[in-house]
Amino acid sequence: MAGNITFTMIKPDAVRAGNIGAILKMINDAGFRIVAMELTRMSKAKAEKFYDIHKERPFYGELVDFMTSGPIVAAVLEKANAVEEFRKLIGATNPAQAAEGTIRKLFAASIGENAIHGADSDENALREANFHFATSSMFDKSGNCVG
Ligand code: CMP
Repeated sequence: MAGNITFTMIKPDAVRAGNIGAILKMINDAGFRIVAMELTRMSKAKAEKFYDIHKERPFYGELVDFMTSGPIVAAVLEKANAVEEFRKLIGATNPAQAAEGTIRKLFAASIGENAIHGADSDENALREANFHFATSSMFDKSGNCVG
């Protein structure tokens, strides 16, 4: 059964452009409930660890530099089938390929600076939520806040 939480970050480009409010409104209007949220700036060490999975990719350094270039909004969102529903709302990684009306189509400039992150699986949603919001696990595997 699909899980009911996902993890997102409004990225530095969208925060710099003043789009936090517009993006959160789209998220709420699409039926997501904000369970946890933090305006923060990632340290280099934290960004490197978060994107460890992309370490061998040519864009890794650029990605870490960009994600630490300014504040982000990290959030845990709740909705039935959250991961898949949220990925539909944000659109394709490359905004040039994102569907009309999606967050990336509206607010992203390029594949590297693409306005928003959405976890790509239930397992990663939990891992990323716990990585960001607690040193120990804050969410159990049903998505309940236990911290
Ligand atoms: P996201 O899916 O949130 O997390 C990984 C990020 O890597 C992705 O968004 C993109 O912003 C970035 N990324 C993926 N592919 C490329 C690429 N070819 N060039 C630059 N950045 C990329």
